[in-house]
Amino acid sequence: MGLTRDTFQSRIGFILAAAGSAIGLGNIWGFPTQAANNGGGAFVFVYLIMTLLVGLPALYTEMYIGNRHQKNSVESLAEACSGFSSQFGRWAGLFGLLGSILLLSFYMIVAGWMLSHALAPLFTFIGMTDTAHWLLQSSFERDLLFTPFFILLTGLIIRQGVQKGIERWSSRLMPLLFILLICLIAYILQQPGAEEGLKVYLTPNFDKVQDPKLIISAMGQAFFSLSIGIGGMMVYGSYMPKDINIGRLALSVTALDTFIAFAAGLLIIPTLYVAQQLGQQVFVNGELMGGPGLIFSILPTLFESMGDIGQYVALTFFAFMSLAALTSTMSITEVPVAFLVEDKNLPRNQATTLVSLVVLAASLTLVFNFDTLFGAVITWVNTFQLPIMGLFYFLVIGWIWKRGNQLADHAYVDAKPALRLWANYLRYVCPILLSLVFISVVLAL
Ligand code: PFF
Repeated sequence: MGLTRDTFQSRIGFILAAAGSAIGLGNIWGFPTQAANNGGGAFVFVYLIMTLLVGLPALYTEMYIGNRHQKNSVESLAEACSGFSSQFGRWAGLFGLLGSILLLSFYMIVAGWMLSHALAPLFTFIGMTDTAHWLLQSSFERDLLFTPFFILLTGLIIRQGVQKGIERWSSRLMPLLFILLICLIAYILQQPGAEEGLKVYLTPNFDKVQDPKLIISAMGQAFFSLSIGIGGMMVYGSYMPKDINIGRLALSVTALDTFIAFAAGLLIIPTLYVAQQLGQQVFVNGELMGGPGLIFSILPTLFESMGDIGQYVALTFFAFMSLAALTSTMSITEVPVAFLVEDKNLPRNQATTLVSLVVLAASLTLVFNFDTLFGAVITWVNTFQLPIMGLFYFLVIGWIWKRGNQLADHAYVDAKPALRLWANYLRYVCPILLSLVFISVVLAL
């Protein structure tokens, strides 16, 4: 390990980096369509409740464990579990590392699609319409070009370190992301049809909220959206000074992430209704289309039908998506890199190269076996990996760490009753809530 650890220089740098990790593809295509299909404003309401009840506490816990130990995720968990079995904590940390590679294996592919769509309008502008067309069509060759490119882009930032890489780039990219989103919303809401979409998105239909599946999807969405369960937030937490108020940081990150998810709904749902007005099919079996069908089929056709301005809108939209993806891949890549640097004493350059090569191999395995593996890996990560690790973090903070309720002990010593309440909430309520949801997911499969 280096003599002194590279760390975030400022609170705001940390918040932008952690919010950058949280705000990603999950917010923009996951949240809005789930909301539209599950009772509009009512889903937004359930999502908020789940975020507050378990999302925020899990985020706090992950950041807190990293912050107290000032180490990468594997060593932090090994140390936190030392009263019980460090080896067990270490294995759990390594399981998180595996999750980071699996998550990156599909996230890099999708991020590559975003980038190729962002470049297409630029080629149209300079008259290379054939190239633009090629960039918009999904193909094996396109994946072979853009997936490695996105891995390289992420690696180039990560190898520069925490302050010069992650913090500097997040501080540059995140404000740009906010501006692009505001411009897009402002434009779309003026188009015919947008108002109807806005109504569908915001009007609560509480009948739909009673479906237990809805609560489960809201929780899954909240976990993925807040980047919980991989160790990224743990590593970021470890790059802040030990005495920092983690509660306030976690709250700021949750607020920003939730706000952007909500704002993305103001963009995506009205856009779908604008597309419908222009004759496109946006419903499949009575449900609004979501996921890749929405992003890579409806939106490009819509942008094309808008004439010249559509090219600019497309460029803005896909640049926005690429930025959101990039700040997320940065945090996931940092998890194994921090481990290799601190635990295996590899220079940062080498660690980044090694991780990038492993991610490349994993992503290419998915590209070559797309139909069998792509969806399966996504399901594994979202349904099992993230909730299992989230549950484990709660068990660590409430039960395993120093074989007791370590936060409550702190609270007792510091005579802070509110903290004590919070500690007991994390110790008892959160693991039970999470287990219930997890069990219903397994039963529903
Ligand atoms: N929060 C990211 C999104 O919403 O797209 C995804 C993610 C990033 C999940 C980092 C987990 C993680 F560690």
